[in-house]
Amino acid sequence: MRTMHVIGIGAGDPDQVTVAAIKAMNTVDVFFVIDKGAQKQELVDVRTRILREHVPTDHRVVEFTDPPRDRAPSDYDDAVDTWHDLRARMLADLVDAEPSESVGAMLVWGDPSLYDSTLRVVERVRAVLHSPFEVSVIPGVTSPSALAAAHRIVMNRVGEPVLTTTGRRLRDEGLPDGVTAAVVMLDSDCSFRSLPGWHVWWGANLGTPGEVTLAGPVDDIGDEIVARRAALRAEAGWVMDTYLVHRP
Ligand SMILES: C[S@@+](CC[C@H](N)C(=O)[O-])C[C@H]1O[C@@H](n2cnc3c(N)ncnc32)[C@H](O)[C@@H]1O
Repeated sequence: MRTMHVIGIGAGDPDQVTVAAIKAMNTVDVFFVIDKGAQKQELVDVRTRILREHVPTDHRVVEFTDPPRDRAPSDYDDAVDTWHDLRARMLADLVDAEPSESVGAMLVWGDPSLYDSTLRVVERVRAVLHSPFEVSVIPGVTSPSALAAAHRIVMNRVGEPVLTTTGRRLRDEGLPDGVTAAVVMLDSDCSFRSLPGWHVWWGANLGTPGEVTLAGPVDDIGDEIVARRAALRAEAGWVMDTYLVHRP
């Protein structure tokens, strides 16, 4: 394969796909799509809709199943490393089977630079192939951007930094001293509850028809967010949420 485009497609709204992404997609012969199982079918459907709407040129879609992942590992970094390796081996076999002149692409939720393993996996694939392909990255709208837009807010307090972190870190370690604003992703536990007195702006399934947003003091709306999140998850089998917290 000659080139692999890693294309950010935005956080859920097909209208967030950029003109640069559409131009790149129309040069692609083969899209490699990771199938995350029936529960996340809606996410695959968004990708399918994007291809149908924006890519009239001839192309193929090759799906591969996400390798199993240890969700409660004793060593988190080691488990992620093993999972990336499994993904890379699967993808390397598929890439190897492509004609040498073909152009491939992977569509990435949000932007490839933020909590996404695609670029790391693609680098591993390049390392094991005899004739490595070129990699190009097309940026996409991140879920924190979609969150800020939905609430019509600025993420940082005036002139101050904003930390981007995960629910696991917030739950296990709290926020570092001095942090006054943080965006939290990958949180299945509503860990903002460990921040009484703070303000939260929450968004679930942003950009999709089922988008829900809530904002207010953690002490006042924390329970409502927990209940709404649980209801969304019970209904669809999954939910994706991101939130911003500010110290008052
Ligand atoms: C594996 S990360 C991918 C992030 C993605 N690369 C980005 O740029 O937004 C998945 C996390 O992103 C957030 N996320 C992605 N899409 C979202 C959406 N439509 N609404 C709310 N949060 C979303 C959630 O925190 C979810 O747990």
